[in-house]
Amino acid sequence: MTDIVLESVEDVAPREALLDLCLGTERFAKSSERLREGRLPAEGLAFSAHGPDGRLAGTVRLWNVTAGPGKAALLLGPLAVHPWFRKSGLGGALMEQAVAEAAARGHGAIVLVGDAPYYGRFGFSAEKTAQLWMPGAYDRNRLLALELTAGAFDGARGLISPTGRKVATPSLNELIAGAADFRKSA
Ligand SMILES: CC(C)(COP(=O)(O)OP(=O)(O)OC[C@H]1O[C@@H](n2cnc3c(N)ncnc32)[C@H](O)[C@@H]1OP(=O)(O)O)[C@@H](O)C(=O)NCCC(=O)NCCS
Repeated sequence: MTDIVLESVEDVAPREALLDLCLGTERFAKSSERLREGRLPAEGLAFSAHGPDGRLAGTVRLWNVTAGPGKAALLLGPLAVHPWFRKSGLGGALMEQAVAEAAARGHGAIVLVGDAPYYGRFGFSAEKTAQLWMPGAYDRNRLLALELTAGAFDGARGLISPTGRKVATPSLNELIAGAADFRKSA
């Protein structure tokens, strides 16, 4: 059986390998990636599932965005389950955990780009996304949303943009200082 837990730092490298396996490197070209790159996932909203031997079996993350001006929301993805663990409800369990925790943390709505036949079972639809758009190329029929608070997306209109915490990147001066320290200690 697989438990769903908050993603830990030990999951980061196995997660990249799992995403490469499940989604290929073309995942980096997706419009959703434009909302994730250089950002940290939303606080407390990155989940991992491990198999009986402790290896990573599934992952899902949520990201802070604004769905047009003044409409705080979350972007969900990627969701991935290792082929060995598919079709036994793990993807659904990851989705349910992610949605429940987002609601518990007071978020009003979630958007994603994905297959309606899969995400429809969790309440996602294109009903409230007609006036929203993603950065870059995507299939507009796959832009789906779920309101966690009724009416959260009423009047939502505009570009979906990232608002999450940025990944800390060292300045050029810090990199030069670090290289000098390294030379001294070598
Ligand atoms: C999508 C995914 C996460 C589902 O994981 P899972 O653990 O198999 O999910 P569940 O067991 O909860 O549900 C499986 C059901 O969903 C169906 N399903 C899976 N992907 C689907 C899709 N894209 N469209 C419609 N149905 C889909 C399966 O056929 C199965 O149907 P069944 O219950 O009638 O047999 C997994 O297939 C995966 O990692 N795929 C590759 C990555 C991907 O496409 N991620 C989603 C885009 S971000």
